[in-house]
Amino acid sequence: MTRKLGADLIFSCVTLLLRRNPPCRASLLSAGQRSVSVRKSTSDTTNMDLSDMRKKYKGDEESFEENQLVSLDPVKQFGNWFDEAMKCPEIGEANAMCIATATKDGRPSARMVLLKGYSDEGFRFFSNYESRKGSELESNPHACLVFYWEPINRQIRIEGTVERIPYQSSCEYFHSRPKSSQIGAVVSRQSSPVPNRDYLRQKNAELEEKYKDTEVPMPDYWGGYIVKPHLIEFWQGQTNRLHDRIVFTKPQDGESEPGEFQHTAEGGWVFQRLSP
Ligand SMILES: Cc1cc2nc3c(=O)[nH]c(=O)nc-3n(C[C@H](O)[C@H](O)[C@H](O)COP(=O)(O)O)c2cc1C
Repeated sequence: MTRKLGADLIFSCVTLLLRRNPPCRASLLSAGQRSVSVRKSTSDTTNMDLSDMRKKYKGDEESFEENQLVSLDPVKQFGNWFDEAMKCPEIGEANAMCIATATKDGRPSARMVLLKGYSDEGFRFFSNYESRKGSELESNPHACLVFYWEPINRQIRIEGTVERIPYQSSCEYFHSRPKSSQIGAVVSRQSSPVPNRDYLRQKNAELEEKYKDTEVPMPDYWGGYIVKPHLIEFWQGQTNRLHDRIVFTKPQDGESEPGEFQHTAEGGWVFQRLSP
């Protein structure tokens, strides 16, 4: 009887949780298939062996074939996957992406930022022009973006050249943000050292007082960037490790004929399948 009540209670809790936060289709498929084991080092020093840490992906019947592309325009295809990621309740910030930049001599650095818009022109985000990424982009205007949506086992990689968006567009976005975020952008000389947290707290309070009744002017060291893509790769994870990779590239003027496995797409793009 007690055991029955216990089982009923667990069942009700699970049902309630699922109702509140229904998993997306892909994660339902992979539920219970996760195989994660982490061996911990026996010594006192930190030395974690994560070689056994992996999870199973979807079945091959869920493979991503060329005829499943909703468009041969990779930006439209991005839009389709992005919409699906946004609809997935297990993905908190579908627009979070890792952006890698590099110094002029090729030393890379990467961090997360939020995608704030995309179009045929490219992918937009906002940041501090004097930050580490900002100064790297100044001397080397190439970047790579990566989205990883774990519950649907998808990754998108975008490579392109980066430009600042027009001042007016940055201003419009800046003033559309909550006032506290605008003040935050003024307070933070991003990536520069500060003595302690109180320093930031105090500066924030001073600016809140200063701009209590007036608009916060957008600092000239803040604004938007656009990544103009010349490569967009769609990756769909599979259980059997035969992951799908379809990569679109935009040949530059004067570049040679499409390769043996390359197919013509739309808008000057070509695509091909890569081995996983
Ligand atoms: C989910 C997430 C979203 C973020 N979004 C932004 C953003 O849109 N713009 C930004 O400048 N920093 C953003 N950050 C902070 C950056 O990751 C980073 O700390 C900051 O931009 C400084 O990077 P840098 O010193 O390499 O230039 C975000 C961090 C996280 C974890």
